[in-house]
Amino acid sequence: MSDQEIYLDYAATSPVDPAVTAAMLECLQHEFGNPSSQHAAGRRARRLVEAARAAVAARVGAEPECLLFTSGATEANNLALQGVLRRQRSARPHLVTSRIEHKSVLDAARALEAEGVEVTYVEAEADGSVDPRRVAAAIRADTALVSIMHVNNETGVIQDVNAIGALCRERGVSFHVDAAQSAGKLPLELAGAPIDLCSLTAHKVCGPKGVGALYVAPHTVLAAQVHAASRSVACAPERRPRTRSSAWAGRTSSRIHTSRRRGLLRCATGYGTSSSQFPGCARTVRPRGARLTC
Ligand SMILES: Cc1ncc(COP(=O)(O)O)c(C=O)c1O
Repeated sequence: MSDQEIYLDYAATSPVDPAVTAAMLECLQHEFGNPSSQHAAGRRARRLVEAARAAVAARVGAEPECLLFTSGATEANNLALQGVLRRQRSARPHLVTSRIEHKSVLDAARALEAEGVEVTYVEAEADGSVDPRRVAAAIRADTALVSIMHVNNETGVIQDVNAIGALCRERGVSFHVDAAQSAGKLPLELAGAPIDLCSLTAHKVCGPKGVGALYVAPHTVLAAQVHAASRSVACAPERRPRTRSSAWAGRTSSRIHTSRRRGLLRCATGYGTSSSQFPGCARTVRPRGARLTC
């Protein structure tokens, strides 16, 4: 963007703060470990991820373990709606939302309708507010979730999410808030609020695009939308912190194979043979209590 332009559309997105760029560059260039790896680089990366989680949690008044990182508020909204509605046992569970939600909520609601979910779209008032009394009137015995945004991205109207949340609590209905426009700008104390799920995004508050989070209150259980579990340890033959050429990886891999054959790598249970294995990936499984020597 040129110096002649004055950028004002922070509701769409904001420039990345130089401190954020510096922190990301440090990770991209130096602390690039996989936080699921159990070696030192992985453990350092995990500590950085957990520090980031704690910083975001402090900003929205939540316990860190209640925050799931996502690719943004779009994914968080989808996860909240699908996660709650797909857990319901009844054949046609009910969702309440408003006509003025962000497209990511409305599209997720439409997709759920195609799966048999019944959706009530509450009308907004002429001033852009969603009247809690209309929400209360829409709630039924089979309502599983109410989803109402905090600040509207087009009008800037702040919805009374505390009043709506309180009436959801009275009726035993889960309450989701899309706080993409408000988090980091308006005070949010999620731990004490009558809110079960809350979507956040980084790029409206000078963070990068493609990063967000879903707050999930401790008592709230979601149907998993992405299934992932990792028990094995990928032991990279990497002592030096920089990326190496594939020739270097090939040489290192063949050294590992040789060491394995000679019994020098005590716990490296190899897969494949040296001819059928990709040279850049030496896979090992660490038995309980065994020491990795590679
Ligand atoms: C209210 C609201 N919800 C959700 C989103 C989607 O956020 P993201 O770009 O992080 O997916 C936006 C972004 O414009 C928004 O304004």
